[in-house]
Amino acid sequence: MSTQTELQDTINDMVDDHRGILAADESTPTIQKRFDAIGVESTEENRRFYRALLLDTPELGKYISGVIMFEETLGQQDDTGRPLPEVAWAQKIVPGVKVDKGKGPLSGAPGDLITYGLDGLAERLGDYKAQGARFVKWREVYPITPTNPTLLGLRANAEMLARYAATCQEMGVVPIVEPEVLMDGDHDIDRCAEVNEQVLHSVFHALRLHHVSLEHMILKPSMTLPGKDCRRAPADEVARATLTVLKRTVPAAVPSINFLSGGQGPEEATENLNAINRLRGNAPWQLSTSYGRALQQPAQAAWAGQQENRAAAQQALLKRARLNSLARNGEYDPSMEA
Ligand code: 13P
Repeated sequence: MSTQTELQDTINDMVDDHRGILAADESTPTIQKRFDAIGVESTEENRRFYRALLLDTPELGKYISGVIMFEETLGQQDDTGRPLPEVAWAQKIVPGVKVDKGKGPLSGAPGDLITYGLDGLAERLGDYKAQGARFVKWREVYPITPTNPTLLGLRANAEMLARYAATCQEMGVVPIVEPEVLMDGDHDIDRCAEVNEQVLHSVFHALRLHHVSLEHMILKPSMTLPGKDCRRAPADEVARATLTVLKRTVPAAVPSINFLSGGQGPEEATENLNAINRLRGNAPWQLSTSYGRALQQPAQAAWAGQQENRAAAQQALLKRARLNSLARNGEYDPSMEA
């Protein structure tokens, strides 16, 4: 199969008008934080049990088209010995994997960050493909301060995303390009819009320079929101600001935009997605989810590390996935939470 066909097949299997992506790719320190919050020890067996539970949720494939796994999960099996990528694909959920190696300070740009992991990426992609991954994710992180991101930060982070995406496409693996603008801080929604616009503009400029095929990637951006320490904005204000930024920066060739939740509560993230889709007008892309916390938090709380809570945890995940699927078409109402 040609690389082009491989990429297009994966896009066809992941992008439609009602499903979203489940981000379950928490690194070992991050899943430890999530497990600490529910009083569960982060052992390899507990991580396996929990992630197998998510992927095995009956009917999940009706609402979820792809799952981003952590490298460890890709090699794990369910209780019957089936590899977890196979468990996902059994209900037409495309398996993918996070390939970046985390972030650290960007030298020469105080306050900005940069992500590691390009060295040896092509070889690793070959291994991940052999384990069943058909798409991958890489996240660059942009804190907002009065002076960040700097011009150097914008350029360096965009360059990383573009080099990553070009390498993936060469290997026939669809890249999710994730420039995450953090919610931390007391900035207002206008400042967030200004930064998001600069970030996305620089990312698409770099993608162009690196000959990345826009038709064969998925964008995973932050919504345009006020900082966590600023007043909360109503959903229609978030929707208007988010759509304005996206329409100014994201070419129509990109098939799908799948938002991260970034610290929004589960219901807030659904409400904002719903408002975005109500206001979308003739926006050319699918506007969907790639939520981690906003999809998983209720499931983690319901599970609490107890085997007998498995079905309750699956119900909690399915509920969020279903409500977000309704929000894809602006058909969600908070009364449905009851
Ligand atoms: P959140 O939705 O919890 O922000 O996670 C999405 C993600 O994959 C962050 O990289």
